[in-house]
Amino acid sequence: MKMRSITKTFVVALTLLLSITLFAEGGRTPLRAKNGIVTSASHIASQVGVDIMKQGGNAIDAAVATAFALSVTWPSAGNIGGGGFMVYHGDDGKATTFDFREKAPLAATERMYLGLDGLVVDNSNHRSLLSVGVPGTVAGMYKAHQELGKLPWADLVAPAVKLARDGIPVSWELYSGFRSNQSFWDQYPSSAEVFLKPDGSSYEFGDTWVQPDLAATLELIQEQGRDGFYKGKNAKMLADFMRANGGIITEEDLEKYEAVEREPVRGTYRGYEIVSMPPPSSGGVVIIEMLNILEGYNLASYGHNSAQYLHLLTESMRRAYADRAEFLGDPDFNESMPLERLMDKDYAAKLRASIDMNKASVSDENEYASIYESDETTHYSVVDKDGNMVSVTYTLENGYGSRIVAEGGGYLLNNEMGDFNAVPGVTNRNGQIGTTPNLIEPQKRMLSSMSPTIVAKDGRPVFAVGSPGGRTIINTTIQAILNIIDFNMNIAESVEAPRIHHQWLPDVTSFEGLGFSEDSIRLYEDMGHEVRARGEQGSVMGVYFDRDSDLFLGAADSRAGDGGVVGY
Ligand code: GLY
Repeated sequence: MKMRSITKTFVVALTLLLSITLFAEGGRTPLRAKNGIVTSASHIASQVGVDIMKQGGNAIDAAVATAFALSVTWPSAGNIGGGGFMVYHGDDGKATTFDFREKAPLAATERMYLGLDGLVVDNSNHRSLLSVGVPGTVAGMYKAHQELGKLPWADLVAPAVKLARDGIPVSWELYSGFRSNQSFWDQYPSSAEVFLKPDGSSYEFGDTWVQPDLAATLELIQEQGRDGFYKGKNAKMLADFMRANGGIITEEDLEKYEAVEREPVRGTYRGYEIVSMPPPSSGGVVIIEMLNILEGYNLASYGHNSAQYLHLLTESMRRAYADRAEFLGDPDFNESMPLERLMDKDYAAKLRASIDMNKASVSDENEYASIYESDETTHYSVVDKDGNMVSVTYTLENGYGSRIVAEGGGYLLNNEMGDFNAVPGVTNRNGQIGTTPNLIEPQKRMLSSMSPTIVAKDGRPVFAVGSPGGRTIINTTIQAILNIIDFNMNIAESVEAPRIHHQWLPDVTSFEGLGFSEDSIRLYEDMGHEVRARGEQGSVMGVYFDRDSDLFLGAADSRAGDGGVVGY
């Protein structure tokens, strides 16, 4: 070993020893740290992100390393076979986003899932190799790193390679996830190779889970960057697997895939700046539209989760979700989306004027409903020592995506094609939607609800939030924002507080069953709302910069069983 590299290794080791790592799993007290924080659905992945910052990496470096680590430790949604969105806000005021949403393959057609009767055949848009969109994650991470990263790319992928090769403990969450998907492992031999032991038996809680094929694919990415996934060995392997098993993604699809850097959507709320993801995410636009409506009320005076507050929240959700369904889709295929109007304060004032303070509106079934999206996905947030923030939500769509592992590649493939409107023209009260902006076209990105968001003041980031949860993501995220701005909660209280969801159609409000007072719900019902109790709604991972104490605060939602916030 040369002298210089010995010195470098020594310096890095010393730095790691001297900076104390701080860790928390959830609860109402935020983690406080001086130098940086990562919070994610996997405490192991959060630790990887913090280690990268300790080595001198910035928030983007940590976000890239965390994404690859999650692809190993959180197979339910962490991925290299899926896609998502990243929002960045630097302390210098620079804000940008990276869109690495999956795309429809070149051979996709508008009616590809329909039988002669015009109905979707066998749920094939959610459950088959045809449901797989061209993955975007590796391209997105690579682009973000090229634009804003600091450390060498290979260093950011290295921890994930090691985790996959050496193995990780099977946590209770992993054990439960593997068990509940047993029927898929029985169906797909390439998946059984990853999620069952070599002798075909199930992994037990506490076992060590090693993923040699995934480690090899990650090594290709480590060595070759974007091309390690989209060209050469992996591209050929994936295209061959598709061809042999009825899928339609080709090497040309992979070669053509590009992540896109996009201008964020921006709004204001009570003196804060909202910086969020533009289409093909619906999240940013809908959050800003709802906040604009709610700005006209003194929400704090009604009390957190009071019937009056929940009523106004619901009415803003109802209106903004109707617009989401009518107008939003991939911007590269929908040039005339009225984004400015939807995020305009005057438009919000008109919507506000249609709200009765004491009586629920009725969702018109001739208006628009939202498509089905699954409850899975994952969000993580990062802040580095300079106060730069990154907010990332990415997904395979369903938990474990299509449940199909790319043979030889060791990674799960998404089933994101299900986020397109599969039946043109058919919109109904069950939540099916057939509007034009989100119909299937080759190379188009499917509409998403993922809402990674950063809230700033005077051009400097204050907090970053986001959540998994399909259609509920937008509502979970906005409630975390309102909890901080209107109800003065700290970041941990804000991610823990119970939440509701309404999405225009079906015209029902779901609420976390254990979190609300019976009296408030009764008063809310008396206003004309139909309610349904549900289990947990999303899991928010948030970071906050408290400029008074000059400390970073972070929280991992305790709803995420493997989640953890790590700082130093
Ligand atoms: N698949 C969930 C979403 O993109 O919103």
